[in-house]
Formats: sequence, structure tokens, C-alpha cells
Amino acid sequence: MQYAIRNPQGGPTGTQYAQANDIITLENAHTSGAYPKRPIAVVRGQGARVWDADGHEYIDCIAGHGIANLGHCHPAVTAAIQEQAAALVTCSEVLYNDQRAALLSELTARIPGGLGRVFLCNSGAEAVEGAIKVARLLTGRPGVVATMRGFHGRTLGALSATWNEEYRKPFAPLVPGFSHVPFNDLAAMGAAVGDDTAAVLVEVVQGEGGVRAGDAEYFQGLRRLCDERGALLVLDEVQTGLGRTGRWFAYEHVGIAPDVLCLGKALGGGLPMGAAVWQEALGSLPTGVHGSTFGGNPLACAASRAVLRTLAAEDLPSRAARLGEQFMAKLRAIPSPLVRDVRGRGLLIGVELRQRVTPILKGLMERGVLALPAGPTVVRFLPPLVIQEAELEAVLDVVREVLLNGDGSFAGGE
Ligand SMILES: Cc1ncc(COP(=O)(O)O)c(C=O)c1O
Repeated sequence: MQYAIRNPQGGPTGTQYAQANDIITLENAHTSGAYPKRPIAVVRGQGARVWDADGHEYIDCIAGHGIANLGHCHPAVTAAIQEQAAALVTCSEVLYNDQRAALLSELTARIPGGLGRVFLCNSGAEAVEGAIKVARLLTGRPGVVATMRGFHGRTLGALSATWNEEYRKPFAPLVPGFSHVPFNDLAAMGAAVGDDTAAVLVEVVQGEGGVRAGDAEYFQGLRRLCDERGALLVLDEVQTGLGRTGRWFAYEHVGIAPDVLCLGKALGGGLPMGAAVWQEALGSLPTGVHGSTFGGNPLACAASRAVLRTLAAEDLPSRAARLGEQFMAKLRAIPSPLVRDVRGRGLLIGVELRQRVTPILKGLMERGVLALPAGPTVVRFLPPLVIQEAELEAVLDVVREVLLNGDGSFAGGE
């Protein structure tokens, strides 16, 4: 298959036909260098499948790093974007807007536990920044206690809460007031939270940190601790929110509600969208303390409303729970000495290996399956929640082939 791109030489906007190599060369000439890129150029998607410029088909268990919960080009999202693009794309939050008003109402109705105030933004990191600001503003305290292996984004505030030294070190000094304690360790959190703590900031299931879920007792303990000490419990559900783990929000698995919730990724149906959502009882922000020019734009709000409608209409959280259990059971049944552990919730699934993950990801990709790492030794599967059972079976066949590969070509390599 050939793909049309704009003429890179500028001039009249003629098209030229480019194959994957042309696209890769052109992108490499100007890209930031920040991403560990794979040598395929994806140009089209439908459901859980994407196609590269050379016409190869892949089952997409990356899903835009967990964005495409509804799959690629879901007709409801496409129609909402098309319709809104013809009505109104941009409208600052200093003015009111029909799509934004409806989204705020529909989103807060979906979030259990009294979370009724929303700051709309454009990414997960921006949602975390918003949550940190809300916590500092509303408590009047500076401290944020986050967890080891936690990932909260790359902007300087969010990065200060992110644990991985590799991401943090080049950018020191970071924002003061942040500390890290072991995840799923209530005693360690108890020792760290004091009179100056504004927020305890944690993921319910650590995604990037290796697909690790905290226990219900841990989160119930965090809830009590924050209440006793006057800190806000901030849950980062940028990756786990909106059906991914088999419930609308992962905190529903652990029987508590947060003070502040961070959302992103799937929220915009592929358009940039994030939200910091907090308890109605905490009140609203003083006028003028925070803002985001693109935040709450009608186009992203319309897409987001289509996401919420479709998640409900197709009961995708339940589907994620059911398919995730089946997929994990079948992964566990693969008799490979390379596998140390299979874990996850819903369709956020990690396979921890006894070796580095890179050659396995490459083996999967060469056989038409796209997956992610979660740290150096964990393969992470984040398929669209609409993935078909036959597609998951096809993924399993490929995983089996790669993990059981008799010639040893995947063992031990980088
Ligand atoms: C839990 C969590 N928080 C925050 C972020 C940052 O989101 P973004 O990349 O949209 O800034 C991510 C991204 O992977 C994430 O997984």
C-alpha cells in the first residue's frame, strides 16, 4: 500500500507517495530524538488493528500508550469529531460552551464518590500538575509523597513525583517538597506523611512501573491516613481510568474514593484531553490561579462525550474485566521458562520475564503484534477494550510462538 504525504520540499502542497522508509527518513530528519522509535510507519487504524505504510497489518496492544480504549476510529468518536469540527473547534474557558457544560455534567455523573469539580486540560501530566496545584492550594501545605516505581508524567511538577532516576536526573533540580516511599507499604507511607503533606499521590495499578496493583487494604489505609493527617489522597488514573482495569475507575476495585483524581489518555478518544477532578466538598479554585488555553475546547469535549457514551453503551469496562481474565489465564498456561509472572487488572496486563524485554517486543512486532515495555523486564499489553476475542487468540498464538521459540534466538539478548 502507498500513502500520500505532503511534499517535504515545501512549495505547492502537492502530494508524493511515500513508503515506510520515506516516512521514517523524513521524520528522523527533524524529530526530537526523545523517543525509542520502532522502524514502522503506521498510517491507518480500525478497531484493534493498525496498518503501516507498506500495508502490513498489526494487532495493536499499544493503543497509543493506552489511549485507544475504544479502538481506532470508533464510528461514534469519528462522528462526534466531524460534527463538532464543523460547529466550533475552540472556545476559551472564559466563555461558556455547550459541549463543555455537557461533558462536565456527564463526566462527574460517571465518577463515584462525590468528585464534582473538574479542571480540564490536555494531557496526563497536565492533569497531575493540576492535581498538585489543587492539593497545595486547598491544604495550604507544600509536601507531596509519591511512591517508588510510580510514573506521573514528564513535566517538571509531574516529573518530581515520578520515581525513575533515569527520567529525573538530567533535569535536576526538580520541584521541592516531593518524596518517594515503597508502593503498597502503608507503614512507609505512615512514616512519610506529616503536617506539611498536601498530597499522597499514587497510581492504583502502577503501569509504567511494571503493572503492579496495590492491595485494597493498602488503599483503605491510605484513605484513613490522609483523613487523619489532613492530606489529600490523589489517585493518578491517567492509565487505569475509563474502563481499562475492568471498572470505570480502578479505585472502584479497592473500596475507597480519592480526594483528587487524575485522568488523561482514553478520556479524549484520541484527542489530547486530561482532567483533574476533586471532591465537591473541597470547593472550587480561586479565580485566576490556574489555566490552560486549549483546556476544555469543544472539539475534545465532544470526543470525550462520545467516549463516555460508548463505554457505557458497549459496557466496555465489563468486557475488559472478562477478556482480561481470559487472556491472563491463557498467558499463565504458556509453559515458557522465560516467564516469571503474569499480572494485571482488566486489559492492563504485564508479563514479567526472566530476561530483558526488548527482543521479545521485537519478536512480537515481526509477527504482527505491537506491545509495550513496562520497565526493563515486563511486556505490557494495553489492547483496545473493543478487541475481538479472535484477535486476542491471534495475539496469544504469537506470544506462544515467541516465548517458546526453540532456536533460543530470543533468550538473553538486549
Ligand atoms: C499513570 C500516568 N500518569 C501520568 C502520565 C502522563 O501522561 P501524558 O503522557 O499524557 O502526559 C502517564 C503516561 O503514561 C501515566 O501512565
